[in-house]
Amino acid sequence: MRFFTRFAPGFAGFITLVYAAALPAAEGAAPAKADPARGRQVASTVCVACHGADGNSTIPTNPILAGQVADYIANQLAAFKSGARPSPIMKGMASPLSPEDMHNLGAWFAAYPDDDLDAALDVLTGAPTYPSDRDRFVSVAGTVRERWPAGADSLGVPTWVYADEPTSAFSTHVAKYFTNSIREDGLLALARAGVVYAAGGAGTAQEIFTDAAQNTNTLYEVRSPMVFFERAFYEEAEPELVAAVRRQAAAFGWAELVTVVDDASDVLAFLGAHDPDGRGSTVARGRRRPDGR
Ligand code: HEC
Repeated sequence: MRFFTRFAPGFAGFITLVYAAALPAAEGAAPAKADPARGRQVASTVCVACHGADGNSTIPTNPILAGQVADYIANQLAAFKSGARPSPIMKGMASPLSPEDMHNLGAWFAAYPDDDLDAALDVLTGAPTYPSDRDRFVSVAGTVRERWPAGADSLGVPTWVYADEPTSAFSTHVAKYFTNSIREDGLLALARAGVVYAAGGAGTAQEIFTDAAQNTNTLYEVRSPMVFFERAFYEEAEPELVAAVRRQAAAFGWAELVTVVDDASDVLAFLGAHDPDGRGSTVARGRRRPDGR
């Protein structure tokens, strides 16, 4: 199981947004070894018209695929095929593709083999926390950038209130500064597959309540799991945050999407079991309408 996570910049960066795209495709596990040559063949006959044979699209409406993470491409193709990510154009393109083809195409467009992602994550695992050693926190990220310079484009969306913190070292583009409430509403809307909350301050509390409101009102088509990471914080230091979310969730029928865990593998297991785009999900519903239906 592989997750692709992005750390939002700023103090609120201590939450990890897990995008739907990140989750393993419903189509099943990746084949043992993807074949980029086969991917190239399909790309040069089918995808070339819009994305370019090597993925360097020059037309703004067709995303650039060159340099993307291989699993991201494969998972998006599976999501287009299943309809989890709606796109009339791409549904037509992805429908004939087998899961093997999706992984082959991912391998062809990707800048690096998947093993490199694991290696990069290993380097980042050795980073200290930001408050304990600011310089090294930043320099570890720099090491990853130097070793793998051809990453995909990504957007950092900083807030103006945390003046002493660096924007994510992995952002190739930085958006205008927003107030935290506006920024979080957008990021949380994107995080279909769930949000993991580490211990945090005022910004994190704000995110928790914004996320709870999005879930209760099903504002963005699905209800997403909320995982509170670290019992010492969420059950002992500040238990009222989770208690308020649980009351809200119980009243509106999404209690099973809230959990408090202490172990990273429990985070992954919970998100995998409650993926709103996965098969058998019971809590993905249409948006609530004013008449209550
Ligand atoms: C007729 C034009 C067209 C063709 C042909 C086409 N695509 Fe696309 N593709 C698009 C458009 C437009 C989008 C943006 C869809 C959206 O986000 O709603 C897209 C999006 C994607 C994405 C998501 C990228 C992202 O950043 O999330 C992937 C992956 C993708 N296409 C892969 C392929 C592959 C692989 C092929 C060939 C099998 C292909 N496409 C063929 C037009 C096309």
